[in-house]
Amino acid sequence: MMAHRYGRRIAALGLLVSAIALASPAGSKPRAATRAPAMSVDARARAIVAGMTLEQKVGQMTQPSILAITPDEVRRYYIGSILNGGGGWPNKNKHSTVADWRALASQYRQASLSTDMKVRVPVVWGTDAVHGHNNIFGATLFPQNIGLGAAHDPALVRRIGRATAAQVRATGIQWAFAPTLAVVQNPRWGRTYESYSSDPREVEAYAQAMVDGLQGTLGSSTSVLATAKHFLGDGGTWHGIDQGETRTSMANLVATHGAGYRGAIRSNVQTAMISYSSFTDTATGKAWGKMSANRALVTGLLRDKMGFDGLVVSDWNAIGQVPGCTDWHCPAAINAGIDLMMVSDEWKKFIESTIADVKSGAIPMSRIDDAARRIIAVKLRAGLFDEKPGPGAEVMNSPAVEALAREAVRKSVVLLKNDRGVLPLRPGGRILVVGRGADSLPLQTGGWSLTWQGDQTDNRDYPNAHTLLAALRQQLGAQAVDYSVDGTGVDPRRYSAIVNVAAENPYAEMKGDVVFPAPFAHTARYPQDLAALERVSGKGVPVVTLLFSGRPVPVNDLINRSDAFVAAFLPGTEGEGLTDLLLAPRGGRSRFDFTGRLSFDWPAGPCLPQSGGVQFRRGYGLSLASRTSLGQLPVAPIPVECPADSR
Ligand code: GLC
Repeated sequence: MMAHRYGRRIAALGLLVSAIALASPAGSKPRAATRAPAMSVDARARAIVAGMTLEQKVGQMTQPSILAITPDEVRRYYIGSILNGGGGWPNKNKHSTVADWRALASQYRQASLSTDMKVRVPVVWGTDAVHGHNNIFGATLFPQNIGLGAAHDPALVRRIGRATAAQVRATGIQWAFAPTLAVVQNPRWGRTYESYSSDPREVEAYAQAMVDGLQGTLGSSTSVLATAKHFLGDGGTWHGIDQGETRTSMANLVATHGAGYRGAIRSNVQTAMISYSSFTDTATGKAWGKMSANRALVTGLLRDKMGFDGLVVSDWNAIGQVPGCTDWHCPAAINAGIDLMMVSDEWKKFIESTIADVKSGAIPMSRIDDAARRIIAVKLRAGLFDEKPGPGAEVMNSPAVEALAREAVRKSVVLLKNDRGVLPLRPGGRILVVGRGADSLPLQTGGWSLTWQGDQTDNRDYPNAHTLLAALRQQLGAQAVDYSVDGTGVDPRRYSAIVNVAAENPYAEMKGDVVFPAPFAHTARYPQDLAALERVSGKGVPVVTLLFSGRPVPVNDLINRSDAFVAAFLPGTEGEGLTDLLLAPRGGRSRFDFTGRLSFDWPAGPCLPQSGGVQFRRGYGLSLASRTSLGQLPVAPIPVECPADSR
């Protein structure tokens, strides 16, 4: 027995010696192994873990919010990761500069490299850079995913990933919680706009492209860790209820909702985030419960069957939704295969309770070792032990980045109607612009923009951006463009054309849900948009309506009062991408045409029938050459509540 124990100690010592030899002390270049062959990442990670205490291992598994932990606490508690949630800025200052972000990131990194660990392990910072680096004041923001899905252009998505990674690294952050790989089945969901498409094949192709774009060459100065999220079935919940119950067969769950993960793993995605949602297998009737404690899917499917070899992170306090757990204590989640716990605020309680669980045997030490090893292996692959400085602040909104975003806007909008070819508009007359969305960057960018909900902001928070109104005035001259937000105080007949912009208010996650049985029609939630349109339409002046929305939403009543109608989704900061399509030079041809095609079916009526009821099928979209006339579409009365047999 004694020999056996000594044998293990000698083996561990050997691993530890190798790890110390190979892992670079803070601030110096890693010393390559001069004699022994280079150890594999996994072997190096194992060697580092072998020299860690239980406290250090559990600290490595802890991910607090930067609003809840100081750099010195990161040092004292051996914290492995931090995050900023939407609206979590340095010094709680929405207008923090890139230098402010870099300085804070450096403080956290240096703190993590100042511990008394045998091998000091750098902290990794994660952020929701989901349409560009959307937390950063002044950054160029790309169209939200639903628009990118309409572009049907994985190469564009890869380029956006590359640009986003550079923006993130410029702030000293090394991890983007993107892409969302939801395959949305019900647009009532408040996160529909984070989904590329309802077609799993498109999501799979986009996942591969975006992960490849974000991660680039792991370890390089412009690479960030990507995140395949939210595993599994986040976009398939009943009635699209956020964090709700996904009711489908296991076969469909894997085939449809697992598609993006196949693409992401093909691009060597290094992190995966677990969904708040739960899963009930309709083929067997088995209620599997919350994904955060689903070992069969997190370990059995994602790791063992799909071959994911990175780290698994929980969602924000999601473990608290597991029966018997709290936001900071959930052995079932760790035993299911989650390695890193996004415990945001109560991180000290998490550390205490998890250490107690290991000592009581509720969590085997082997699981803790496995989790710490996976986290450290990801950091080694990402080059964090000898991190190269990221690019300069110019990548936030360089001319090249703005041009890329403008191109993405052009490709991401869909022309639904263009009766009598009223588009493109030509200069010469005066344009009347109306509608809530025409001069509002919060409505043009949507949620996850500076703040979590994309609210509590205004145009002054987007100094380098252009609203559609600003872009029209820039292109046509301010004197040729008048604006009335609600269509009052103006005589439409004095103008050669009218541009109307209807919009949803920004939202994120559950705050964007249109909860069944509420009617789903846009006018049920924003009657003021129809009112503004009614004031200016039917006057013999062509009306072009654009809709800023995070989802396909019933608008037949608005379409009927418009000669042309554009589904613009949430285009981001580059409003010129819209005028590139709306305007043509005097007498000349348009430089650009509408190439966007819907990536979701577009509903016709105010409620979503179980089947049918589609006004425009996925794949629909006109070009300027299309000479179809849509005519009058059916408009059903908006009920107080949708019937029980609708979605
Ligand atoms: C949120 C979201 C997730 C995000 C995380 C951190 O609740 O579900 O997508 O990455 O918290 O902000």
